[in-house]
Parts: sequence; structure tokens; C-alpha cells
Amino acid sequence: MIKINPIKKSDYFKILQIEQNLFKNTMIKKELNNFFSQSSFRIWKIEEDKITGYMSFYQVMDEVEIIKIGIIKSYQRNGYGSSLIKELKKLNMKKIFLEVSTENVKAINFYLKNGFKEIGLRKRYYKSKSGIKVDALRLSFTH
Ligand SMILES: CC(C)(COP(=O)(O)OP(=O)(O)OC[C@H]1O[C@@H](n2cnc3c(N)ncnc32)[C@H](O)[C@@H]1OP(=O)(O)O)[C@@H](O)C(=O)NCCC(=O)NCCS
Repeated sequence: MIKINPIKKSDYFKILQIEQNLFKNTMIKKELNNFFSQSSFRIWKIEEDKITGYMSFYQVMDEVEIIKIGIIKSYQRNGYGSSLIKELKKLNMKKIFLEVSTENVKAINFYLKNGFKEIGLRKRYYKSKSGIKVDALRLSFTH
């Protein structure tokens, strides 16, 4: 059975491990501790027999900003990411939004499939692996 819950301190190591395998800019343990002192920042984990991924976001008033969603490579494309989004939608926030690199086609497809719409473009917002600045696509979901 799939379970989604806020992470605990004992999950830190695993979450950081997943994050380091997937992203270039990663959190460190100290940052995780700092994040937890901010009441608006949340990290949820998704697990079946083991943790397969996580999602971090800010929840402020009636809006949610997704910071990251990461599913362990070998578990991708099995619906775990979509399950996290489905759970987030249950919070019934007015708006869920995020920014993603225009190079991350996989993630863009993922968000579009989950009902997000393109709302804008931030030119040259991210630095890509090759050092070139790439655009960020702004996506949003409203109920
Ligand atoms: C993007 C990500 C979170 C999606 O999670 P996931 O559990 O693999 O997604 P799902 O299984 O729910 O897939 C839903 C849809 O996403 C898209 N998608 C997922 N993986 C894809 C891939 N490898 N190539 C193209 N589209 C893909 C597809 O539209 C897919 O629907 P389909 O299988 O019916 O075609 C996951 O691939 C990931 O962790 N990527 C690396 C980190 C990242 O880029 N995160 C997002 C930016 S913060």
C-alpha cells in the first residue's frame, strides 16, 4: 500500500540521498534543520515497502509553491510522482505553482499530465549543466 506522510528527522538521511542522486543543487542537513523551523515549509515522503520519493513545498495562505519532487530513478514512471500531486491537491489550496527548467521535458510532461497549465516564462533563470543559462517555465494548477 502506498503511504504519503510528512518526513521525520529519522528520514533526513534517506531524503538527502535521493535528492543528491537526482539534483545538482541539493539541500544539506543543516538546511533541512533550518527549513523545519519555518512553519510554512513541508516535505512529504511517499513509500510503499520503502521510501521511493519525496516532495518539498511552501504552503502560504491559500497557495502552495512546489520546490522539488524527486522519485528514485528505478521507481520513476510508476505513478509515485502523480500520487504526491494528487495528495497535495487534497489540501484544496486555491493555487499550486512552480518553476521548472525548459530543458526538463520529463518534468514538464509530468506536470501537464497532472493538470498544470503554463502561465509564463522566466528568461535565462537557471544555469544548465553546460553552464548556459536556460529559461524557467512557470506552471500552475487551480481547482
Ligand atoms: C518528474 C518526476 C517527479 C515524475 O515522477 P514519476 O513518478 O516518474 O511520474 P509518474 O509515474 O506519475 O508519471 C506521470 C507522467 O509524467 C511524465 N513522465 C514521467 N517520466 C517520464 C519520462 N521518463 N519521460 C517522459 N515523460 C515522463 C509522463 O507524462 C507520465 O505519464 P505517462 O507514463 O502516462 O506517459 C520524476 O521523473 C523525477 O523525480 N525526476 C527527476 C527529478 C525532477 O526533475 N523533478 C521535477 C522538477 S523539481
